[in-house]
Amino acid sequence: MHKSVKDIINMKKEKKKISVITSYDYSLAALCDKAGIDVLLVGDSAGMVMLGYENTITVTMEQMCLFTEAVSRARKNSLLVSDLPFMSYQVSIEEAIRNSGRLIKAGADAVKLEGGSIMAETISAIVDVGIPVMGHIGFQPQTTTLSEGYKVQGKTKDTALKLIEDAKELEEAGVFSIALEMVSHEVTEIISETVSIPIIGIGSGVDCDGQVLVVQDLLGMYNKIKPKFAKRYMNLSEDIVKSLEEYKNDVELGTFPADENWFSMEEGELEKLREHIGS
Ligand code: KIV
Repeated sequence: MHKSVKDIINMKKEKKKISVITSYDYSLAALCDKAGIDVLLVGDSAGMVMLGYENTITVTMEQMCLFTEAVSRARKNSLLVSDLPFMSYQVSIEEAIRNSGRLIKAGADAVKLEGGSIMAETISAIVDVGIPVMGHIGFQPQTTTLSEGYKVQGKTKDTALKLIEDAKELEEAGVFSIALEMVSHEVTEIISETVSIPIIGIGSGVDCDGQVLVVQDLLGMYNKIKPKFAKRYMNLSEDIVKSLEEYKNDVELGTFPADENWFSMEEGELEKLREHIGS
């Protein structure tokens, strides 16, 4: 049985740190799941790292359902959370519920949406129909990108107070966890201590209940943006390019495929074939 929302909530109570990684496709999701990562997040960052968009704004429900289906076929142990894309939950509560349901039917266990207190009513309504919700405050890629660009949040007393208030209101609205993106580490610590639900940080320091990274950043596969907070555990793009260059070289030299990479006819069949076709 895979991890449940309750298991993730309990990890905070048991003071166990929560590992979250983004996943969008079957092969990588299977490896993340095998590695014992607690939560696979089908983030709308898929738009950038999988589809090559400049930001997450153009991502559609259809795309998120497709990525969610692929990841759900791969996961065995982790909890699976999927992002509601921009404009799939802001227009009306009905639409937010319908689209959350689509992600659940595609295989997600919970949905994530961006926004502070302004989203509280929508979150309550989604939770009321039985769908667990993860909140997302601090830097909010779907909207902050349009208004301010990439910017650390909670650097002043007033912005910090707003973030703390947002976290409290999201907890009251019923979220089981909150993603906290690019928030000053002092404010992160206060928020983590203030709410009883897990705070999952990205670029928000060590005082969270868990961490999330984009899997391509961690593996060194996406080079367009290199955020300060995204620790690279390897430089896979270099290895991939090197392997592809070797393959191209082998093809050109005729050293690939070799004996072990091809198939043969049954014994004696070639002679019979030659006789038949007269060669
Ligand atoms: O879309 C995403 O990948 C996210 C995480 C980085 C929190 O929202």
